[in-house]
Amino acid sequence: MTPDFDALAPHYRWLEAVTFGPLLHRCRTALLPHLAGCRRALVLGDGNGRFLADLLRANPDLTADALDISPGMTALARRRVGGTGRVRFRVADARAADFPRRGYDLIATNFFLDCFTRPELRRLVPRLADALEPGGRWAVGDFRLPDRGWPRLAGRVALAGMYAFFRLATRLPAGRLVDPDPLIRACGLAPGHTDTWLGGFLSARLWVK
Ligand SMILES: C[S@@+](CC[C@H](N)C(=O)[O-])C[C@H]1O[C@@H](n2cnc3c(N)ncnc32)[C@H](O)[C@@H]1O
Repeated sequence: MTPDFDALAPHYRWLEAVTFGPLLHRCRTALLPHLAGCRRALVLGDGNGRFLADLLRANPDLTADALDISPGMTALARRRVGGTGRVRFRVADARAADFPRRGYDLIATNFFLDCFTRPELRRLVPRLADALEPGGRWAVGDFRLPDRGWPRLAGRVALAGMYAFFRLATRLPAGRLVDPDPLIRACGLAPGHTDTWLGGFLSARLWVK
């Protein structure tokens, strides 16, 4: 199944504001202070480009490849970052795209890994880890199912609602959240700085290869 975020693209920003206020963007950008010095980034599924724009502002020497399956989202991102020669946009399905081996010192995936089923992640995560040079950083901002208590219960309900919505609106193949951490760890990356919000429902985690 191929997801189609084009119809959602013009509404994504206000839907996010109405549902999570400023929290998702706080989560996307929380790791920026830890990405200083990165020069060559692969930014996956950034949608309308809000993280990418902030990343370019924070790291003036960085260039990026930005890959997204949605032409509509990519057009918004392109407009947002302007006519900079620092970003090469690519409309492609990450599940089938080629990535240069050890081509990047930064990979950024915000609310992107949650779009995939477990078998898809099993194939995708090692390919992305391979694209990272030794010492490179992988910034993952995403939803998580909290470990216990009411945040876990509320998380389950919220995730069920979100996946039902995204499957309907975008034909998203994933129907539930898969924890990517064991897969990333199995590729030899170590977890570093982590921030969480909403009792652990939102998490920004830095991985280092
Ligand atoms: C839930 S949105 C997240 C957008 C943004 N990263 C954010 O922080 O809100 C998922 C994004 O990933 C893209 N995407 C989903 N599946 C993809 C795939 N298989 N290959 C490339 N991009 C994909 C969508 O087009 C969309 O822009």
